Amino acid sequence: MNNVLNSGSVLEVLRPVQDPELRKSLVEMNMIRNIKIEEGKVSFTLVLTTPACPLREFIVEDCQKAVKKLPGVTDVLVEVTAETPQQKSVPARTGVPGVKNIIAISSGKGGVGKSTIAVNVAVALAQAGAKVGLLDADIYGPNDPTMLGLADAQMLVRTSKQGEILEPAFSYGVKLVSMGFLIDRDQPVIWRGPMLNGVIRQFLYQVQWGELDYLIVDMPPGTGDAQLTLTQAVPMAGAVIVTTPQTVALLDSRKGLRMFQQMNVPVLGIVENMSYFIPPDMPDKRYDIFGSGGGAKTAAELEVPLLGCVPLEISTRIGGDSGVPIVVGDPNSASAKALTAIAQTIAAKVSVAALLA
Ligand SMILES: Nc1ncnc2c1ncn2[C@@H]1O[C@H](COP(=O)(O)OP(=O)(O)OP(=O)(O)O)[C@@H](O)[C@H]1O
Ligand SMILES: [Mg+2]
Repeated sequence: MNNVLNSGSVLEVLRPVQDPELRKSLVEMNMIRNIKIEEGKVSFTLVLTTPACPLREFIVEDCQKAVKKLPGVTDVLVEVTAETPQQKSVPARTGVPGVKNIIAISSGKGGVGKSTIAVNVAVALAQAGAKVGLLDADIYGPNDPTMLGLADAQMLVRTSKQGEILEPAFSYGVKLVSMGFLIDRDQPVIWRGPMLNGVIRQFLYQVQWGELDYLIVDMPPGTGDAQLTLTQAVPMAGAVIVTTPQTVALLDSRKGLRMFQQMNVPVLGIVENMSYFIPPDMPDKRYDIFGSGGGAKTAAELEVPLLGCVPLEISTRIGGDSGVPIVVGDPNSASAKALTAIAQTIAAKVSVAALLA
Protein backbone atom coordinates (compact mmCIF):
# COMPACT_ATOMS: atom_id res chain seq x y z
CA MET A 1 0.00 0.00 0.00
CA ASN A 2 1.11 3.50 -0.79
CA ASN A 3 1.76 5.03 2.61
CA VAL A 4 1.79 8.67 1.57
CA LEU A 5 -1.47 10.50 2.22
CA ASN A 6 -2.49 12.03 -1.08
CA SER A 7 -5.45 11.81 -3.44
CA GLY A 8 -3.80 8.89 -5.23
CA SER A 9 -3.53 6.80 -2.07
CA VAL A 10 -7.10 7.74 -1.05
CA LEU A 11 -8.40 6.54 -4.43
CA GLU A 12 -6.32 3.38 -4.05
CA VAL A 13 -7.92 2.43 -0.71
CA LEU A 14 -11.38 3.34 -2.03
CA ARG A 15 -10.98 1.27 -5.20
CA PRO A 16 -12.15 -2.03 -3.59
CA VAL A 17 -15.27 -0.35 -2.13
CA GLN A 18 -18.25 -1.30 -4.26
CA ASP A 19 -21.68 0.08 -4.87
CA PRO A 20 -23.63 -2.88 -3.42
CA GLU A 21 -26.32 -2.72 -6.09
CA LEU A 22 -24.14 -2.19 -9.12
CA ARG A 23 -21.45 -4.49 -7.70
CA LYS A 24 -18.88 -2.21 -9.21
CA SER A 25 -16.08 -0.16 -7.72
CA LEU A 26 -17.11 3.36 -6.68
CA VAL A 27 -13.82 4.63 -8.05
CA GLU A 28 -14.24 2.91 -11.39
CA MET A 29 -17.81 4.24 -11.69
CA ASN A 30 -16.44 7.78 -11.12
CA MET A 31 -18.55 8.10 -7.98
CA ILE A 32 -15.67 9.50 -5.89
CA ARG A 33 -14.72 13.05 -6.80
CA ASN A 34 -13.12 16.19 -5.49
CA ILE A 35 -10.71 14.62 -2.99
CA LYS A 36 -9.14 17.16 -0.64
CA ILE A 37 -6.56 16.59 2.07
CA GLU A 38 -5.74 19.03 4.83
CA GLU A 39 -3.28 17.61 7.33
CA GLY A 40 -5.06 14.44 8.52
CA LYS A 41 -8.49 15.52 7.29
CA VAL A 42 -9.67 13.82 4.13
CA SER A 43 -12.78 15.04 2.37
CA PHE A 44 -14.39 13.99 -0.89
CA THR A 45 -17.70 13.93 -2.74
CA LEU A 46 -19.57 10.67 -3.14
CA VAL A 47 -21.84 10.89 -6.20
CA LEU A 48 -24.64 8.34 -5.81
CA THR A 49 -26.76 7.08 -8.71
CA THR A 50 -29.99 8.36 -7.14
CA PRO A 51 -30.74 10.92 -4.40
CA ALA A 52 -33.10 8.28 -2.94
CA CYS A 53 -30.35 5.68 -2.55
CA PRO A 54 -31.50 3.16 0.09
CA LEU A 55 -27.91 2.26 1.01
CA ARG A 56 -26.57 5.79 1.39
CA GLU A 57 -25.39 5.44 5.02
CA PHE A 58 -23.97 2.00 4.38
CA ILE A 59 -21.85 3.21 1.43
CA VAL A 60 -20.65 6.30 3.33
CA GLU A 61 -19.59 4.08 6.24
CA ASP A 62 -17.74 1.71 3.90
CA CYS A 63 -15.86 4.67 2.39
CA GLN A 64 -14.97 6.09 5.80
CA LYS A 65 -13.71 2.75 7.06
CA ALA A 66 -11.52 2.28 4.00
CA VAL A 67 -9.94 5.75 4.15
CA LYS A 68 -9.33 5.52 7.91
CA LYS A 69 -6.99 2.62 7.20
CA LEU A 70 -4.50 5.06 5.68
CA PRO A 71 -1.85 6.17 8.16
CA GLY A 72 -2.17 9.78 9.33
CA VAL A 73 -5.91 10.09 8.68
CA THR A 74 -7.75 11.75 11.56
CA ASP A 75 -11.06 12.64 9.92
CA VAL A 76 -13.04 11.55 6.88
CA LEU A 77 -15.71 13.91 5.58
CA VAL A 78 -17.99 12.58 2.87
CA GLU A 79 -20.24 14.98 1.02
CA VAL A 80 -23.05 13.04 -0.65
CA THR A 81 -24.70 14.13 -3.88
CA ALA A 82 -26.37 12.22 -6.70
CA GLU A 83 -26.61 12.13 -10.46
CA THR A 84 -29.58 10.11 -11.65
CA PRO A 85 -28.78 8.34 -14.93
CA GLN A 86 -30.98 8.62 -17.99
CA GLN A 87 -32.99 5.49 -18.78
CA LYS A 88 -32.01 3.70 -21.96
CA SER A 89 -33.69 4.78 -25.17
CA VAL A 90 -36.12 2.51 -26.99
CA PRO A 91 -36.41 2.45 -30.80
CA ALA A 92 -39.53 4.12 -32.21
CA ARG A 93 -40.44 5.75 -28.89
CA THR A 94 -39.98 9.42 -28.18
CA GLY A 95 -38.71 10.40 -24.76
CA VAL A 96 -39.86 13.55 -22.99
CA PRO A 97 -37.04 16.14 -23.20
CA GLY A 98 -35.44 16.72 -19.80
CA VAL A 99 -37.15 13.71 -18.20
CA LYS A 100 -34.70 10.99 -17.21
CA ASN A 101 -36.94 8.13 -16.07
CA ILE A 102 -40.64 7.44 -16.61
CA ILE A 103 -42.20 4.98 -14.17
CA ALA A 104 -45.79 3.71 -14.34
CA ILE A 105 -47.77 2.73 -11.25
CA SER A 106 -50.36 0.27 -12.46
CA SER A 107 -52.76 -2.49 -11.44
CA GLY A 108 -55.16 -4.91 -13.05
CA LYS A 109 -57.87 -4.09 -10.52
CA GLY A 110 -59.36 -0.77 -9.48
CA GLY A 111 -59.22 0.67 -6.00
CA VAL A 112 -56.14 -1.22 -4.84
CA GLY A 113 -54.21 1.96 -4.01
CA LYS A 114 -52.35 2.99 -7.18
CA SER A 115 -52.96 6.69 -6.62
CA THR A 116 -52.02 6.45 -2.94
CA ILE A 117 -48.78 4.66 -3.84
CA ALA A 118 -48.02 6.95 -6.80
CA VAL A 119 -48.52 10.14 -4.79
CA ASN A 120 -46.53 8.97 -1.76
CA VAL A 121 -43.71 7.51 -3.86
CA ALA A 122 -43.48 10.78 -5.80
CA VAL A 123 -43.39 12.87 -2.60
CA ALA A 124 -40.89 10.50 -0.93
CA LEU A 125 -38.54 10.82 -3.94
CA ALA A 126 -38.87 14.61 -3.78
CA GLN A 127 -38.15 14.51 -0.02
CA ALA A 128 -34.93 12.65 -0.85
CA GLY A 129 -33.92 15.54 -3.11
CA ALA A 130 -34.97 14.19 -6.52
CA LYS A 131 -36.71 16.29 -9.16
CA VAL A 132 -40.11 14.68 -9.56
CA GLY A 133 -43.20 14.96 -11.72
CA LEU A 134 -46.51 13.12 -11.40
CA LEU A 135 -48.71 12.52 -14.43
CA ASP A 136 -52.25 11.59 -13.48
CA ALA A 137 -53.20 9.34 -16.39
CA ASP A 138 -56.57 8.57 -14.83
CA ILE A 139 -58.50 10.82 -17.20
CA TYR A 140 -61.93 9.63 -16.07
CA GLY A 141 -61.36 9.67 -12.32
CA PRO A 142 -58.45 11.98 -11.51
CA ASN A 143 -57.67 11.82 -7.77
CA ASP A 144 -54.11 13.11 -7.58
CA PRO A 145 -54.96 16.84 -7.23
CA THR A 146 -56.97 16.08 -4.06
CA MET A 147 -54.33 13.73 -2.71
CA LEU A 148 -51.61 16.38 -3.15
CA GLY A 149 -53.73 19.13 -1.58
CA LEU A 150 -54.28 20.77 -4.97
CA ALA A 151 -58.05 20.35 -5.28
CA ASP A 152 -58.51 24.09 -5.79
CA ALA A 153 -55.29 24.67 -7.75
CA GLN A 154 -54.94 25.25 -11.47
CA MET A 155 -52.62 24.43 -14.31
CA LEU A 156 -51.68 27.39 -16.44
CA VAL A 157 -52.24 26.90 -20.14
CA ARG A 158 -49.98 29.00 -22.38
CA THR A 159 -50.14 29.37 -26.09
CA SER A 160 -46.86 29.12 -27.93
CA LYS A 161 -45.63 28.41 -31.44
CA GLN A 162 -45.86 24.68 -30.63
CA GLY A 163 -49.49 25.03 -29.57
CA GLU A 164 -50.82 24.90 -26.02
CA ILE A 165 -48.23 24.33 -23.31
CA LEU A 166 -49.36 23.29 -19.83
CA GLU A 167 -47.60 24.42 -16.71
CA PRO A 168 -47.86 21.81 -13.95
CA ALA A 169 -49.26 22.59 -10.51
CA PHE A 170 -46.79 22.06 -7.66
CA SER A 171 -47.06 20.58 -4.17
CA TYR A 172 -44.66 18.92 -1.69
CA GLY A 173 -41.86 19.19 -4.25
CA VAL A 174 -43.86 17.39 -6.96
CA LYS A 175 -45.03 18.84 -10.29
CA LEU A 176 -48.51 17.57 -11.11
CA VAL A 177 -50.45 17.39 -14.35
CA SER A 178 -54.00 16.04 -14.15
CA MET A 179 -57.30 16.12 -16.00
CA GLY A 180 -58.73 17.18 -12.64
CA PHE A 181 -57.44 20.70 -13.33
CA LEU A 182 -59.16 20.96 -16.70
CA ILE A 183 -62.64 19.60 -16.04
CA ASP A 184 -65.56 20.39 -13.83
CA ARG A 185 -65.19 18.07 -10.84
CA ASP A 186 -68.83 17.01 -10.89
CA GLN A 187 -69.09 16.34 -14.60
CA PRO A 188 -68.32 12.86 -15.91
CA VAL A 189 -65.71 12.73 -18.66
CA ILE A 190 -67.10 10.89 -21.67
CA TRP A 191 -64.40 10.38 -24.26
CA ARG A 192 -63.47 7.79 -26.76
CA GLY A 193 -60.09 6.14 -27.16
CA PRO A 194 -58.52 8.52 -29.72
CA MET A 195 -59.35 11.58 -27.60
CA LEU A 196 -57.90 9.95 -24.53
CA ASN A 197 -54.82 9.11 -26.55
CA GLY A 198 -54.50 12.80 -27.47
CA VAL A 199 -54.76 13.95 -23.86
CA ILE A 200 -52.12 11.51 -22.62
CA ARG A 201 -49.77 12.61 -25.39
CA GLN A 202 -50.39 16.24 -24.50
CA PHE A 203 -49.69 15.46 -20.83
CA LEU A 204 -46.36 13.96 -21.88
CA TYR A 205 -45.08 16.23 -24.60
CA GLN A 206 -46.87 19.57 -24.20
CA VAL A 207 -46.06 20.19 -20.57
CA GLN A 208 -43.33 22.36 -19.20
CA TRP A 209 -41.90 19.51 -17.11
CA GLY A 210 -38.40 21.00 -16.97
CA GLU A 211 -35.61 18.74 -15.72
CA LEU A 212 -36.96 15.65 -13.94
CA ASP A 213 -35.17 12.66 -12.44
CA TYR A 214 -38.47 10.79 -12.27
CA LEU A 215 -41.84 11.16 -13.92
CA ILE A 216 -44.28 8.94 -12.04
CA VAL A 217 -47.40 8.00 -13.99
CA ASP A 218 -50.52 7.13 -12.00
CA MET A 219 -52.44 4.78 -14.27
CA PRO A 220 -56.16 4.13 -14.41
CA PRO A 221 -57.12 0.54 -13.51
CA GLY A 222 -56.84 -2.25 -16.05
CA THR A 223 -55.09 -2.66 -19.36
CA GLY A 224 -56.96 -0.22 -21.58
CA ASP A 225 -56.33 2.72 -23.88
CA ALA A 226 -54.27 4.79 -21.44
CA GLN A 227 -51.83 1.94 -20.84
CA LEU A 228 -51.55 1.29 -24.56
CA THR A 229 -50.98 4.94 -25.48
CA LEU A 230 -48.37 5.41 -22.80
CA THR A 231 -46.39 2.26 -23.51
CA GLN A 232 -46.49 2.93 -27.26
CA ALA A 233 -45.49 6.57 -27.00
CA VAL A 234 -42.66 6.90 -24.52
CA PRO A 235 -39.75 4.71 -23.47
CA MET A 236 -40.37 3.65 -19.88
CA ALA A 237 -37.85 2.87 -17.17
CA GLY A 238 -40.34 0.42 -15.72
CA ALA A 239 -43.75 -0.40 -14.34
CA VAL A 240 -44.80 -1.16 -10.78
CA ILE A 241 -47.83 -3.39 -10.26
CA VAL A 242 -49.94 -2.70 -7.18
CA THR A 243 -51.96 -5.53 -5.72
CA THR A 244 -53.78 -6.46 -2.52
CA PRO A 245 -53.23 -9.73 -0.64
CA GLN A 246 -56.38 -11.54 -1.80
CA THR A 247 -55.71 -14.45 -4.07
CA VAL A 248 -58.30 -13.13 -6.56
CA ALA A 249 -56.02 -10.19 -7.21
CA LEU A 250 -53.39 -12.57 -8.61
CA LEU A 251 -55.15 -13.07 -11.93
CA ASP A 252 -55.52 -9.32 -12.50
CA SER A 253 -51.87 -8.73 -11.60
CA ARG A 254 -50.83 -11.35 -14.11
CA LYS A 255 -52.81 -9.61 -16.87
CA GLY A 256 -51.21 -6.27 -16.05
CA LEU A 257 -47.78 -7.79 -16.00
CA ARG A 258 -48.21 -9.55 -19.34
CA MET A 259 -49.35 -6.32 -20.97
CA PHE A 260 -46.19 -4.48 -19.92
CA GLN A 261 -44.02 -7.42 -20.91
CA GLN A 262 -45.65 -7.55 -24.34
CA MET A 263 -44.91 -3.87 -24.79
CA ASN A 264 -41.27 -4.45 -23.72
CA VAL A 265 -41.62 -2.39 -20.55
CA PRO A 266 -39.58 -3.84 -17.70
CA VAL A 267 -41.70 -4.73 -14.66
CA LEU A 268 -39.80 -3.44 -11.62
CA GLY A 269 -41.90 -5.49 -9.21
CA ILE A 270 -45.04 -5.76 -7.14
CA VAL A 271 -46.23 -3.63 -4.25
CA GLU A 272 -48.67 -5.29 -1.88
CA ASN A 273 -50.99 -2.62 -0.52
CA MET A 274 -53.43 -2.98 2.38
CA SER A 275 -51.23 -5.87 3.50
CA TYR A 276 -52.48 -5.91 7.06
CA PHE A 277 -54.52 -3.61 9.27
CA ILE A 278 -52.90 -1.60 12.05
CA PRO A 279 -55.55 -0.29 14.49
CA PRO A 280 -54.79 3.35 15.37
CA ASP A 281 -55.37 2.71 19.08
CA MET A 282 -53.17 -0.41 19.11
CA PRO A 283 -50.28 0.37 16.78
CA ASP A 284 -48.38 -2.77 17.82
CA LYS A 285 -51.16 -5.05 16.63
CA ARG A 286 -51.70 -6.23 13.09
CA TYR A 287 -54.65 -8.04 11.54
CA ASP A 288 -54.34 -9.91 8.26
CA ILE A 289 -57.78 -8.90 7.00
CA PHE A 290 -57.23 -10.10 3.44
CA GLY A 291 -55.04 -13.08 4.34
CA SER A 292 -51.28 -12.91 4.31
CA GLY A 293 -48.43 -13.58 1.94
CA GLY A 294 -50.48 -12.90 -1.22
CA GLY A 295 -48.05 -10.31 -2.57
CA ALA A 296 -45.02 -12.50 -1.97
CA LYS A 297 -46.79 -15.44 -3.59
CA THR A 298 -47.87 -13.36 -6.58
CA ALA A 299 -44.35 -11.97 -7.00
CA ALA A 300 -42.86 -15.47 -6.82
CA GLU A 301 -45.36 -16.87 -9.31
CA LEU A 302 -44.86 -14.03 -11.74
CA GLU A 303 -41.09 -14.11 -11.18
CA VAL A 304 -40.76 -10.43 -10.32
CA PRO A 305 -39.49 -8.87 -7.08
CA LEU A 306 -41.79 -7.90 -4.22
CA LEU A 307 -40.91 -4.21 -3.75
CA GLY A 308 -42.63 -3.89 -0.37
CA CYS A 309 -45.83 -4.19 1.65
CA VAL A 310 -47.90 -1.21 2.80
CA PRO A 311 -50.25 -1.73 5.76
CA LEU A 312 -53.85 -0.58 5.87
CA GLU A 313 -53.94 2.42 8.16
CA ILE A 314 -56.74 4.89 8.70
CA SER A 315 -54.24 7.76 8.68
CA THR A 316 -53.16 6.85 5.12
CA ARG A 317 -56.74 7.18 3.88
CA ILE A 318 -57.21 10.44 5.77
CA GLY A 319 -53.91 11.68 4.32
CA GLY A 320 -55.23 11.03 0.81
CA ASP A 321 -58.59 12.70 1.44
CA SER A 322 -57.13 15.73 3.18
CA GLY A 323 -54.30 16.33 0.72
CA VAL A 324 -51.46 15.68 3.16
CA PRO A 325 -49.74 12.47 1.98
CA ILE A 326 -48.82 10.14 4.84
CA VAL A 327 -45.07 10.47 4.09
CA VAL A 328 -45.51 14.17 4.96
CA GLY A 329 -48.24 14.00 7.60
CA ASP A 330 -46.88 11.10 9.66
CA PRO A 331 -43.43 10.11 8.38
CA ASN A 332 -42.86 7.76 11.33
CA SER A 333 -45.96 5.67 10.69
CA ALA A 334 -45.52 2.11 9.43
CA SER A 335 -47.14 3.07 6.11
CA ALA A 336 -44.92 6.09 5.53
CA LYS A 337 -41.79 4.06 6.30
CA ALA A 338 -42.90 1.31 3.93
CA LEU A 339 -43.73 3.82 1.18
CA THR A 340 -40.39 5.61 1.56
CA ALA A 341 -38.52 2.30 1.40
CA ILE A 342 -40.51 1.34 -1.72
CA ALA A 343 -39.64 4.68 -3.35
CA GLN A 344 -35.95 4.06 -2.62
CA THR A 345 -36.09 0.51 -3.98
CA ILE A 346 -37.75 1.71 -7.18
CA ALA A 347 -35.16 4.49 -7.62
CA ALA A 348 -32.26 2.11 -7.04
CA LYS A 349 -33.60 -0.48 -9.49
CA VAL A 350 -34.14 2.14 -12.19
CA SER A 351 -30.60 3.51 -11.81
CA VAL A 352 -29.03 0.06 -11.84
CA ALA A 353 -30.97 -0.84 -15.01
CA ALA A 354 -29.91 2.43 -16.71
CA LEU A 355 -26.23 2.01 -15.79
CA LEU A 356 -25.97 -1.66 -16.65
CA ALA A 357 -27.89 -1.28 -19.93
N1 LIG B 1 -52.63 1.50 2.68
C1 LIG B 1 -53.80 2.12 2.80
N2 LIG B 1 -54.36 2.36 4.02
C2 LIG B 1 -55.57 2.97 4.13
N3 LIG B 1 -56.28 3.40 3.09
C3 LIG B 1 -55.77 3.20 1.86
C4 LIG B 1 -54.51 2.57 1.65
N4 LIG B 1 -54.28 2.52 0.30
C5 LIG B 1 -55.33 3.13 -0.28
N5 LIG B 1 -56.24 3.52 0.64
C6 LIG B 1 -57.53 4.18 0.39
O1 LIG B 1 -58.28 3.35 -0.48
C7 LIG B 1 -58.99 4.12 -1.44
C8 LIG B 1 -58.55 3.69 -2.84
O2 LIG B 1 -57.17 4.03 -2.99
P1 LIG B 1 -56.62 4.68 -4.33
O3 LIG B 1 -57.51 5.76 -4.81
O4 LIG B 1 -55.19 5.01 -4.08
O5 LIG B 1 -56.73 3.41 -5.30
P2 LIG B 1 -56.57 3.34 -6.88
O6 LIG B 1 -56.03 2.00 -7.19
O7 LIG B 1 -55.83 4.51 -7.37
O8 LIG B 1 -58.08 3.45 -7.34
P3 LIG B 1 -58.62 3.64 -8.86
O9 LIG B 1 -58.50 2.28 -9.49
O10 LIG B 1 -60.02 4.09 -8.67
O11 LIG B 1 -57.74 4.65 -9.51
C9 LIG B 1 -58.66 5.58 -1.12
O12 LIG B 1 -59.68 6.09 -0.31
C10 LIG B 1 -57.36 5.51 -0.33
O13 LIG B 1 -57.21 6.57 0.58
MG1 LIG C 1 -56.34 5.95 -8.84
